[in-house]
Amino acid sequence: MINQHYLSMLGNKSVIRELSEYATARGKEIGYENVFDYSLGNPSVPAPEVYKETAIRLLAESDPMKLHGYSPSTGHPEAKAKVAAALSRRYGIDYKACHIFPTAGAAGAIAHAVRAVTTPGDEVIVFAPFFPEYIPYINDTGAQIKIVPAHFPDFQINFEAFEEMLSEKVAAVLINSPNNPSGVVYTEETLLRLADILRERSAAYGHNIFLISDEPYREIVFDGKKVPYTAKFYDHTLTCYSYSKSQSVPGERIGYIAVNPAAEEADKLDAVFAQISRGIGHNCPTSIVTQVMGEIPDATSDLSVYETNMNLLYDALTELGFTVNRPDGTFYIFPKALEDDAVAFCRKAMKYDLILVPANGFYAPGYFRIAFCTDTEKVKRSLPVFKKFVEAEYR
Ligand SMILES: Cc1ncc(COP(=O)(O)O)c(C=O)c1O
Repeated sequence: MINQHYLSMLGNKSVIRELSEYATARGKEIGYENVFDYSLGNPSVPAPEVYKETAIRLLAESDPMKLHGYSPSTGHPEAKAKVAAALSRRYGIDYKACHIFPTAGAAGAIAHAVRAVTTPGDEVIVFAPFFPEYIPYINDTGAQIKIVPAHFPDFQINFEAFEEMLSEKVAAVLINSPNNPSGVVYTEETLLRLADILRERSAAYGHNIFLISDEPYREIVFDGKKVPYTAKFYDHTLTCYSYSKSQSVPGERIGYIAVNPAAEEADKLDAVFAQISRGIGHNCPTSIVTQVMGEIPDATSDLSVYETNMNLLYDALTELGFTVNRPDGTFYIFPKALEDDAVAFCRKAMKYDLILVPANGFYAPGYFRIAFCTDTEKVKRSLPVFKKFVEAEYR
């Protein structure tokens, strides 16, 4: 018999994917250039030239047995050492090769991190608004997701609700900064307070609560801002990183977990992750892309288009009267809808071929997300359409 749990998930498909499929179908009718598809967080800039050069060089010059063979179950040691050295240089934490575990993007990193620090029945706390895929990432491990409601209007952490939700059953807390969908970067003040609470409660409960920090947008920040590095604030941090957004290579499925060397059992965790991989069929991290990662751990695409797009949208939306935080980073902007029901709001926008994502799935009802990873020329063409939509429907 087919597993009923997975069958039932089919009725629960991602709203974002459905909207994107609608946009593609509508594009076939009226031309995709006429559909303002702000649904998917798919990078809109090419991978950096150095990515291609490095991959070609490795293909041309490396020993094919090493390049194409099974990697060690904990990943290629040289690549791990190079990523560790790059992180140490950048953040002043003494990472070694054994603290880096290559994964299939941030999704693979979170899947391993949650399994490594929970047992079925444990709880993992997340903070709204959050990336909806956290629900299957967590619940499919047998742990249970617990959602702290959003802190309006700044989308930092709702500490009052968080402290109430903490209990002995909580094994881990999962955060995401810069945040999808809010675009907010957690401040140092937020991270200091979070770390204090985690230390205090870990001591009270007699076990370390792990902090899983999902950071695929770390490189995409605006107005010259810096993203405080979460692992600097709390020892038991597992940093989940991905090159999907920073190097525009989501199809390559590459990222890593960086285990804070001061975390519990830090030196053994990559071997633990390798055991988890055996069970979920991820074993022997993918070889060529791991080695490319080791050669260019700090390279990024030209990410400047996202700031250009953010400025255009932020200015236009505020002028139209939207309540909206200026994003600190990512390629999302997260305004309040012009009526309480964001689903109805986004449905009305579809009449104008504006594809916006209602934030109900992000657990921030009343808001909507614009993924502005698209051509600036198209963003510019969408601005009068936003104006027409707002004036026709809400004035
Ligand atoms: C917040 C967040 N975490 C994780 C992921 C998964 O990314 P990856 O492609 O690296 O698996 C995404 C993808 O959009 C994301 O937005």
